[in-house]
Amino acid sequence: MNGYFAKVEQLLEKYNQKHVLDFFIGLNHVEKNRLAEQILSIDFEELASVFNKAKEHQFNHSSVEPLEYQRLNDLTNEQREMYITEGWRLLRNGEVGVIVVAGGHGTRLGHDGPKGTMDIGLPSGKSLFHLQAERLLKLSNRAGKYIPWYIMTSPENHDATIKFFQTHHFFGYPEESCIFFQQKTMPAINLEGKLLFSSHSEIHFVPSGNGECFSSLYQSGALEDMKRRGISWLFYYNVDNAIIKIADPLFVGYSACCNHPIATKVVEKRDPDEKVGALYLSNGRPTVIEYNEIPKSLLEKRDRHGKLFFNLAYISINMFRYDFIESCVHNKIPYHLALKKISHVDSNGNTISPSEPNAFKLEKFIFDYFPFAEQMSVLMVEREDEFAPVKNREGQDSPLTARNQILKLHENGGV
Ligand code: UTP
Repeated sequence: MNGYFAKVEQLLEKYNQKHVLDFFIGLNHVEKNRLAEQILSIDFEELASVFNKAKEHQFNHSSVEPLEYQRLNDLTNEQREMYITEGWRLLRNGEVGVIVVAGGHGTRLGHDGPKGTMDIGLPSGKSLFHLQAERLLKLSNRAGKYIPWYIMTSPENHDATIKFFQTHHFFGYPEESCIFFQQKTMPAINLEGKLLFSSHSEIHFVPSGNGECFSSLYQSGALEDMKRRGISWLFYYNVDNAIIKIADPLFVGYSACCNHPIATKVVEKRDPDEKVGALYLSNGRPTVIEYNEIPKSLLEKRDRHGKLFFNLAYISINMFRYDFIESCVHNKIPYHLALKKISHVDSNGNTISPSEPNAFKLEKFIFDYFPFAEQMSVLMVEREDEFAPVKNREGQDSPLTARNQILKLHENGGV
């Protein structure tokens, strides 16, 4: 074995990953080199530290308080008008960009292809991307300016996403206003922290969370593109919210008038056990904490009117000020371990397709940038009007529940 491979072996030994060597047997020279290159690109120290820390699941927020918010329904007519006017002004000026994070694996949904390409069963047969493009087209026509649409993909769905847009002629949206860029990946690991393989000769790298968005915007040149276009605010949303009000002028204007680095929409938490992240003030800074990281006593705490004390459910609809994104691109945020169903290949070359969650992804979450903002503006909206996530194949948060919500909105004249 030459020095190069000896180094690889030492590394694997040091981090308890020697099973990887089983995969070397029978590889040709090119495959061996590629695998070695993959191994050397991995930050094993980080991987081990995330794996060990995340298992502890410690709640380390010493002072937790509710965060102030504004209810949309409590705005006066004058306030509404002021925000909407300001929102349209920014849209007309071309100062608003939109980003959809669409790099996820969609393991729960199990749709064959990128999530945004899914037809959720509406009579029109339109995909999520199509619905979003139509909304952008309407807004742009009214604003007299096309809104740049940044689309974050991952290496595993990038080509398929672009092909889908091309096949559908970008849904009538100008191609030059659709800016695709890829996010980073990290190796998937099994429950013992061991690297998994995607083929007989390749380590399985998977998209490492929507929190990769700022650094990937920077590295891909998309951030520079925003600067060139004079964007001062970026509207951020998840690809799987079927009723997303993209760049809603009222929210754009609200964010700009408050002028904190971040604004976010929240909905009222349904009950203490609802599996959503909740927005708090932790150690004086805005923070989202995952439901499984919050002690039960805090989750169930109520105020004297019987209302949940920590009632703000985070729904991934944010506005980021451009200068805030720019100031954050080199800031470190933590990885979280997410237990998922991850298909992989074993050392005999057999494909394993699990029916239950079997492995961990390392994921960064966009909301871990929130504590870098001294303050943020929080607008509480109605769940039925703004949030219909398509996460699962059936049951809650499925195409069926999203479809029903859309039909209801139509009945009430809400779309
Ligand atoms: P989810 O956390 O729901 O993950 O993503 P997911 O990958 O879509 O689905 P599951 O959990 O495997 O079933 C919330 C949003 O963040 C994006 C998703 O595309 C979705 O819009 N995302 C997630 C990324 O852009 N990159 C990632 O690495 C993960």
